[in-house]
Amino acid sequence: MIDLRSDTVTKPSQRMRRAIADAAVGDDVYHDDPTVNELEGTVADLLGKDDAVFVPTGTMSNQIALRIQTNPGDTVLIHAEAHIGQHELGGAAHNSGVTLTRLVGPYGTFSAEQVADSVPTPHAALPGHLFAPVTLMCLENTHNDSGGTVWDTTQTQEVLNTARSLGLKTHLDGARLWNASAASGVDLVDLALGFDTVNVCFSKGLGAPVGSALAGAADTIEQARRFKQIFGGGFRQAGMLAAGALHALEHNRERLVDDHTNARSFAEAINAADQIQVDLGSVQTNLVYFETPDAEALASDCLHEGVSMLAVGRTTIRAVFHLGVTAEDAQQAAEVIRKQSAIA
Ligand SMILES: Cc1ncc(COP(=O)(O)O)c(C=O)c1O
Repeated sequence: MIDLRSDTVTKPSQRMRRAIADAAVGDDVYHDDPTVNELEGTVADLLGKDDAVFVPTGTMSNQIALRIQTNPGDTVLIHAEAHIGQHELGGAAHNSGVTLTRLVGPYGTFSAEQVADSVPTPHAALPGHLFAPVTLMCLENTHNDSGGTVWDTTQTQEVLNTARSLGLKTHLDGARLWNASAASGVDLVDLALGFDTVNVCFSKGLGAPVGSALAGAADTIEQARRFKQIFGGGFRQAGMLAAGALHALEHNRERLVDDHTNARSFAEAINAADQIQVDLGSVQTNLVYFETPDAEALASDCLHEGVSMLAVGRTTIRAVFHLGVTAEDAQQAAEVIRKQSAIA
């Protein structure tokens, strides 16, 4: 089976399993697990932040970021297709009591003007107490639902400057920030620059079995540790998990460009088929979204031929490239899709 459903389907290699088995451990709730502490320090350094906290999932990391940087009744600016709004099951309202203002823009981006326009300007006839305070802006890089697209750094800084000038805190959902860095050649520190909090995941293209981290200033991460505990994320001998993440950071980052190459050649190959359309402009990293008249039918036909993908909409299928998929697999999968779409 060529499994293209997600980059979360990756399984730990033998070497990663050995690193996990050999990990030095302690009790992370008491902050004395040496491998977790090493991972947190490594992530903070990679992102140019004071500190980081290791958490079970990207969703928990994002939800903690919202919780510690807003108050109930606040409004959060976010892209219309962002994971936090689309796939975290109303967590923003449930855990933090905030509403989301969803900004629409190309490839998961929005502009500084849209940010400015979304923050109300009180005046004598309409005083500030008549508006819900806008207190946080979230970006997602790469942007999953837009095709794994990468934010341009100049545009990021413009949007951040505007948000800051309006008194907003800023959070980066960088579940796949590693891919953004690999694709753009921009250092992680520069991609994280200016954000108050940054989420990164080890369990996606990096191939670790579990884990994410939230990075930021020391006092912010101190608050995050409190909410990690409140949200039930207090780990004990989590060094076993952190060892997988450390191994992934050391060994699996450089190869991410191979996934991007495979995604590109796959996208070009299927785009040549009559019944398939790919916006090649959106294929910037390891995700490929394509249009076909009946997504569920095609995904099911391909599954019978050994290619597993997700129908994510009536006419949309997602295929994701990762360390379990070779260049040959990518070409073979494209061939299956071309054949099955011609039969349909
Ligand atoms: C952009 C983005 N953010 C956050 C998450 C959540 O990560 P997790 O599945 O670890 O909760 C995902 C998951 O795919 C994602 O794509």
